[in-house]
Amino acid sequence: MPRDDRCNTGILELDKMLLGGIPRGRTVLIEGPPGTGKTTLATHFLVAGILHNKNPEPGIFVCLDENPQDLIDEAAAFGWNLKKYIDLNQLIIVDAFSGRLGIRPTLQFAVPVGKFDIKTVMDRIEEAQKSIHATRLVIDPVSALLDEQEGKKRREAVLTVAALLSRLKLTTLLNSELEAAGVGVERYVAHGFIRLTYNELGEKVRRQLRIVKMRETMHSMDIIPYEITVKGIELKV
Ligand SMILES: Nc1ncnc2c1ncn2[C@@H]1O[C@H](COP(=O)(O)OP(=O)(O)OP(=O)(O)O)[C@@H](O)[C@H]1O
Ligand SMILES: [Mg+2]
Repeated sequence: MPRDDRCNTGILELDKMLLGGIPRGRTVLIEGPPGTGKTTLATHFLVAGILHNKNPEPGIFVCLDENPQDLIDEAAAFGWNLKKYIDLNQLIIVDAFSGRLGIRPTLQFAVPVGKFDIKTVMDRIEEAQKSIHATRLVIDPVSALLDEQEGKKRREAVLTVAALLSRLKLTTLLNSELEAAGVGVERYVAHGFIRLTYNELGEKVRRQLRIVKMRETMHSMDIIPYEITVKGIELKV
């Protein structure tokens, strides 16, 4: 029986470990080096909200480091038709990528050229939420939002983002590269923290996931191997 106070991720074994999923309305940091599957996990989470609930839960994906069309194409390889969900008003992709490269964005919800800052991105999130009554959010990667801030300013920026997300009652995944610039205040501020890593043993590289923290949840401290297949992320418990 799904629990109302949890948001399923669509990754079966992860949901079991999390008593049904991410605590609703909370922010969880997903940290890992390039290619570990952060974007895939986050897309899983948004698609699960749309597909696997009695009432679809619309979601917002804030794209900071890749072109939204690339995200749509990569998701299609897993069998997820993001374009369809966008047309059904179940998904909004906020383009916070093109403008930073000086390219005029074509999507409705986007950060224009020359306007990139935390406030503008957060304003777009708020507008997108109002537009489709979104309950789930992904910021991928949050490090791109925070990297220009240092020290005390970075801490303040993290707290500003966290306060707004909490006010909007969005269940949020913040993707981040491992050991991104700064000391990783977001690890402390976030309600939960999941780390994706590689274990390089001999000639074989294995993917591993660990729930570092999840408040309100008695969770396993095991290091769980996982694979990325055509169906997405699969934990090998
Ligand atoms: N369709 C697919 N089928 C199987 N595995 C795939 C598929 N697409 C991607 N992968 C695997 O997933 C990896 C990329 O995952 P993803 O883009 O989610 O990582 P990421 O952590 O977001 O990376 P980055 O830090 O570069 O954004 C690829 O390197 C590949 O190993
Ligand atoms: Mg990614």
